[in-house]
Amino acid sequence: MSDPAPETRPADAGSSAPVALEVRGLGLTYRLPRRGPFEPGASLPALQGVDLAVPRGARFGIVGESGSGKSTLIRLLAGLERPTTGTVTVGGRPVDAGAGAGRLRWFRRITGLVLQDPYASLDPRMRVGSIVAEPLRSLRVRGDHDALVADALRRVDLPADAASRFPHAFSGGQRQRIAIARAIVHGPSILFGDEPMSALDVVVRARIIEVLQTLADDLGLTLVLVSHDIGVVQRLCDHVAVLDAGRIVDAGPIGLLDASEHPITRALVDAAPTLPSPPDGR
Ligand SMILES: Nc1ncnc2c1ncn2[C@@H]1O[C@H](COP(=O)(O)OP(=O)(O)OP(=O)(O)O)[C@@H](O)[C@H]1O
Ligand SMILES: [Mg+2]
Repeated sequence: MSDPAPETRPADAGSSAPVALEVRGLGLTYRLPRRGPFEPGASLPALQGVDLAVPRGARFGIVGESGSGKSTLIRLLAGLERPTTGTVTVGGRPVDAGAGAGRLRWFRRITGLVLQDPYASLDPRMRVGSIVAEPLRSLRVRGDHDALVADALRRVDLPADAASRFPHAFSGGQRQRIAIARAIVHGPSILFGDEPMSALDVVVRARIIEVLQTLADDLGLTLVLVSHDIGVVQRLCDHVAVLDAGRIVDAGPIGLLDASEHPITRALVDAAPTLPSPPDGR
């Protein structure tokens, strides 16, 4: 059976919403290779002192320019990498990315992850059904795996016979749906995304946004989405945090993107291409 749902605890002062994910003092410093035998190894603080509280059921966007630390942050949140400082907790329970697979299984059960590149993330030699079922096998989920895979494929709007085909038979947008199906098949409550739409063209991107919105509504997911694309975050998210040089410099409800006077936020919003308007204008 599935592990118990994470407990809830009060969010930061000023909000009474239960917290899905809490981050305190999170930092990661990359050690760079030494340039010569007598040179000290340099280090790069990619992320420093990040505090976040993601309310349960929120659609939380993390934006920032290239190199600001977005992928580093989502990797830490998703338990793929161990922080140099600070903690990630779910319901007060620490996520120890250095622990063995067995000790982190509770966290893998309640989370899913979608990455940017739908071509690199799917094994071309495996049938789609087997790709989507992978978390069920590795997390030792009981039940009818074929039925769970069929349900996940239906939720992302792929035909049922997709399971018997190979990834090369699918377009980029369809492959990203396969990746999303794999990320939700085991029934997680938190879905992480690192630029899940940025490899896709505008029309397909809009469809994937719809798919994620419907999934979040139907399954009550908490979404944590990293993107350099302000338009995607404005459409999909209700909370946002702005990263700059490894630090959160601005955070709050999504209206912040229009209202904030922080120079980094303003620069990001002003540099964003204008979204295509609906047919009847603005
Ligand atoms: N494995 C690594 N080793 C050393 N430095 C790294 C490593 N991964 C990332 N960095 C550096 O850490 C900083 C943050 O990188 P990160 O990939 O998190 O940025 P990002 O905001 O996701 O950028 P992008 O929008 O281009 O994807 C950058 O300076 C990057 O060069
Ligand atoms: Mg990145």
